[in-house]
Amino acid sequence: KIYRRQFLFLSAAGAVTASVASSALGQSNRTPFKSQVSLPKLHTSNHGSLELDLEASSRPVSLGGKRAYLFSYNGQLPAPRLEARPGDTVRIHFTNNLTQPTNLHYHGLHVTPTGNADNPFLEIPPGESLTYKFTIPKNHRSGTYWYHPHHHGYVAEQVFGGLAGLFIIRGELDEIPEIKAAKEEFLVLQDFALDGSGRIQSPNHMAIMMGREGQILTVNGQVNPKYGIPSGGLLRLRLLNASPSRFYRLSLENHPLYLIATDGGALGNLVEREELLLAPGERAEVLVRGEREPKQYRLLNLPYDRGGMGMMGGGMMGDGMGMMGSSQMMRSSQTNPQVLATLTYRGSVSTLPLPQKLIPVETLPEPRTVRRFELSMAMAPGMGMSFTFNGKAFDPNKINTQVQVNTVEDWELVNVDPDRMDHPFHLHVNPFQVISRNGKPEPDRAWKDTVLVRGGETVRIRVPFRDFLGKTVYHCHILDHEDLGMMGVLDIQAPT
Ligand code: C2O
Ligand code: CU
Ligand code: CU
Repeated sequence: KIYRRQFLFLSAAGAVTASVASSALGQSNRTPFKSQVSLPKLHTSNHGSLELDLEASSRPVSLGGKRAYLFSYNGQLPAPRLEARPGDTVRIHFTNNLTQPTNLHYHGLHVTPTGNADNPFLEIPPGESLTYKFTIPKNHRSGTYWYHPHHHGYVAEQVFGGLAGLFIIRGELDEIPEIKAAKEEFLVLQDFALDGSGRIQSPNHMAIMMGREGQILTVNGQVNPKYGIPSGGLLRLRLLNASPSRFYRLSLENHPLYLIATDGGALGNLVEREELLLAPGERAEVLVRGEREPKQYRLLNLPYDRGGMGMMGGGMMGDGMGMMGSSQMMRSSQTNPQVLATLTYRGSVSTLPLPQKLIPVETLPEPRTVRRFELSMAMAPGMGMSFTFNGKAFDPNKINTQVQVNTVEDWELVNVDPDRMDHPFHLHVNPFQVISRNGKPEPDRAWKDTVLVRGGETVRIRVPFRDFLGKTVYHCHILDHEDLGMMGVLDIQAPT
């Protein structure tokens, strides 16, 4: 019973309680099943303005042939794809038809964190509406961004319910001739866990500690969908890990992946990869090239060990371990490769060329300020467990870090987790560059907003704070960790 008490402490600190999950997902019904959820629609900006209605609700959907009660935006899974251009104004008339509070976050976008913009402190109660309004800066990088709910305490549950969609900024990268010639596919990766009646399975305590994962792996809401590589042989895949906790270690069965962009837009040059690891929240764009002969390429998710459970498995939880007998409670370390999608190719006599030069990534100046952030699960004697930065759990009324606008800082992210659990670190509003890992310089300069910090690792990132003042957040993108306190408040201030 010790564990129970600890868990209640976590709940009081703002965690989602497991019972909310099932009640919010609707009643099972016995009439023949008809999916009420469709594939995502595309909303593009027109004459400098992107405007749409967006409604969050829960509805039944067919998931790999099974009935599932999921959350969705506008009844679509994944959510509608939004496309805008630098300089555009965005207006989203949002309505919350869930039975719990929510809001919207525009992950990776460099837009203002204040007012009715990318403000994670807003709360939209059930039944209420709010219009989000912001402008995409004229010099915003083109890339693959996304949106999802961000109400502290409900984020993991709502994203696991299916609430996630792409927010594409079109621009420079799309104009490179070789890339323009490629066929474009968007792959949103989501995992789901259903109980016998098609409701999202409520995670047990251990699953919440590790971050909830499901055994149904989907791409664009489908199990193993097929995508054609066009006759020119060049396919551009824009990948988003929209799972709350699952990592994807992607491979095309040893066929090369040509990386062209990361979270925050284009790389300077194409980089050939055999595998690609996407932590929760991360995006990547790759080109895939078909050989001459007809062939099928399977997009696989390879097993990946994200640490954790060592200490806990060693009996740290005392009596509480008695509650953790079932296999669902064990780390969902998948042992076999799983097929996510299949790329089919009919072959061709000639294939389109790969681009060599992409878009130069600027060199940031050496900063004057270096800050250290310790990432860890924290045990307070008699108080149970939480997830923290520098030993502190999230408090919306405190400011953890103050910076000045128009300065550059290095942040040293040190994973001191005693359980050696991976933590993907994410910062809102201002993208950064990874400088080094454990002192080793990062090989390719790239813009990121989420970076994996493995157990025991130290990752140095360089962040320019530009354009926007106000309060925002950084957090672990294992969303259960974020809901359990692994989030800090950043205040970006005017120069004094
Ligand atoms: Cu994708 Cu603050 O999150
Ligand atoms: Cu974000
Ligand atoms: Cu974490």
